[in-house]
Amino acid sequence: MSVPEEKPSPSSEQATAPSALDSRAHRPLRIALLGFGTVGSSVARILVESRSEGLELTQIYVRSVARRHVDWVPASVQWSEDADAVLASDVDVIVELAGGIDPAGGWVRKALKSGKSVVTANKKLISLQGVELERLAASGGGQLKYGAAVAGGIPVIPGLEQGLAGDQIVRIEGILNGTCNFILSKMQEGAEYTPVLASAQSKGYAEADPTEDVGGFDARAKLAILMRLALRVHVDPEEIAPLPITSITSVDFIYARELGCTIRQIARADSAGGQIAASVGPMLVDMHSPLAWSRGTENMVIFTGHYGGDVVFSGHGAGGHPTAVAVVSDLLALAQGSRRVEIPTAPAHVSAEFEVPHYIRFMVNDKPGIIANITVALASEKINIRAIVQKPGYPQHALPFVMTVEPCKSSALKRAMECLRGKDYLLEEPLDLQMLE
Ligand SMILES: NC(=O)c1ccc[n+]([C@@H]2O[C@H](COP(=O)([O-])OP(=O)(O)OC[C@H]3O[C@@H](n4cnc5c(N)ncnc54)[C@H](OP(=O)(O)O)[C@@H]3O)[C@@H](O)[C@H]2O)c1
Repeated sequence: MSVPEEKPSPSSEQATAPSALDSRAHRPLRIALLGFGTVGSSVARILVESRSEGLELTQIYVRSVARRHVDWVPASVQWSEDADAVLASDVDVIVELAGGIDPAGGWVRKALKSGKSVVTANKKLISLQGVELERLAASGGGQLKYGAAVAGGIPVIPGLEQGLAGDQIVRIEGILNGTCNFILSKMQEGAEYTPVLASAQSKGYAEADPTEDVGGFDARAKLAILMRLALRVHVDPEEIAPLPITSITSVDFIYARELGCTIRQIARADSAGGQIAASVGPMLVDMHSPLAWSRGTENMVIFTGHYGGDVVFSGHGAGGHPTAVAVVSDLLALAQGSRRVEIPTAPAHVSAEFEVPHYIRFMVNDKPGIIANITVALASEKINIRAIVQKPGYPQHALPFVMTVEPCKSSALKRAMECLRGKDYLLEEPLDLQMLE
């Protein structure tokens, strides 16, 4: 679908609003933390240990002080179980690190309305309500900063807002979820999905319910934020249908290797020809691509600029300390009075239509004529076969084999696969993965 005519973004109004921070004169920025979990406690740790000039932690809100109180926080910091009292206090910045939409969204709204600035790592909130919250920040005179919301400690958002603001970004390709990268890079080494997920859970890399991560919802939220800053469109993340990594088996890694590739969860978007396309899911990545080199919980993002070409960001995309570094960097930017580079954005609809080569894995009860049958279905959509790969050693009654096809529209391949629905030789739905080139 096309991008509608560009309108001034709500955030561009921000430039004209008076800043509540400006009245601070030379005293440090007074900071309240809402939430003292993995990231919140790391932010406090950095503020306490590094004594960053211009920053003063004054309040911490938690649900239970008795449960969360720690001795290493100076006695001058006030602990509270009353979020409203903290929001009504004289702090300059609310650092929201509870996560989720409620009650975090209400706190952020209240803080911005009262002219305070907000720093948050909450990708869910920013991806769904970021535009409205930026508008509130602009009218209240505060600022909203969320450098930690995408790729944790990797300065992807400041990099886009400052270093790349002069370019016209046309494509984003990224590994935005460390849990999926951990699982898939272990599967690349030969492990099976279920034990690797259990190991990720025991190491604290995956939640007890891993759906947000393995289902692609977390990466989708982050992609929507990057699309706003890089492609300058605001999209409803729910328009992007993610493909879960749970559809990948060890067989796919064997076939991927045969094709000179590996498999990673990729979040991608581009704006070729004024159309906005985005997708999230496991994809085949050439072994020579930097995306294939990322291992463990690493994140990586490649931005392609019309003028500057490719820029790669990589590093620790999650974890208490790396994420807290991004939060404290946002606080320092506020203390130093730096304002965001305003980027005009426009609302847009998003399609899943990429014209790329595909990997299709079939699992069949073998019999003569299967390839001919599939070829007819592909030909009906004018899709060219690139390669057919069948590894020996699998039983005839449960035989996996792979076809790769030349670049074709995702919708055309979907229609071709529809023609095969219900065929008696198919033991499961064919797995269709995009191939990044
Ligand atoms: N962890 C990471 O690696 C990472 C990376 C990037 C971004 N983030 C984002 O950072 C934020 C914080 O994540 P986290 O990993 O630090 O989470 P966490 O360890 O679960 O900590 C959340 C904190 O918020 C409090 N909290 C949660 N729900 C609350 C509620 N309804 N009312 C009051 N307090 C509530 C918790 O209180 P209790 O102590 O009472 O449970 C806890 O102190 C999230 O938005 C997350 O998406 C995290």
